[in-house]
Amino acid sequence: MAARVPESEGEVRLNRFLAENGGVSRREADDIIFAGRVTVNGTVAETPAVRIDATRDSVKVSGKRIWPQRKEYVLLNKPEGVISSADDPQHRRTVVDLLHGVRAHVYPVGRLDVNTSGVMLLTNDGDLALKLTHPRFGFSKTYQAKVQGQPSPRALQKLATGVHIPTESGRMEVSLPAKVKIVKTFERNALLEITVQEGRYHLVRSMCAAVGHPVIKLSRVKFGFLTAAGLPLGRWRYLTTDEVQRLKGEKAS
Ligand code: URA
Repeated sequence: MAARVPESEGEVRLNRFLAENGGVSRREADDIIFAGRVTVNGTVAETPAVRIDATRDSVKVSGKRIWPQRKEYVLLNKPEGVISSADDPQHRRTVVDLLHGVRAHVYPVGRLDVNTSGVMLLTNDGDLALKLTHPRFGFSKTYQAKVQGQPSPRALQKLATGVHIPTESGRMEVSLPAKVKIVKTFERNALLEITVQEGRYHLVRSMCAAVGHPVIKLSRVKFGFLTAAGLPLGRWRYLTTDEVQRLKGEKAS
């Protein structure tokens, strides 16, 4: 049977199938496909964009069959100093290096800066990952940010309604409305709690800098309803079945 390029429910791109089931990153999957090492139903796949039916098609890498894996959902309390991507071209320590004993090759859902700590979900369930990171879904994340100075009520109001921040491409955009409160004040700093419903690069740091209160320390304390309760920094656990169901069913929270 030839490699198919159909469009129906339950089908995935070949590179995503390999990344979720073959123990490689999406980038490595692209490389081995372009190297001609991957066959779909006996035919060499020419592009990572080929769509396959994971339940019916036979995908092989260098002749070895890749079977669909069970979906796994892992919650990590990320420490500072660790990169939140599955593989780092510069070979720095990544969150995946902290997942000793995890049964599958899972990927971070969204990212945290290297110097941000806190709750992070990792999974090989690409559909759920897509849903939780899609801007339209508006999944909420709560951060505690220790900032320089003590923001005035006006600065807090600006953070809550939206401020101009740079995008990754350098353009300026307005942040979406956020919930903001002061948790604690110190002599020269304040601890803010900020709940956002978008996942832009350096979002919270840029928002705080935009109102003149740069972030000194940042931690994500909630990812939707998930917290790091009982999970020391650097440790992980599997989500419970109930938690997975809740995440799948959850509307913007
Ligand atoms: N906002 C940031 O600025 N950094 C993070 O890591 C997460 C949100």
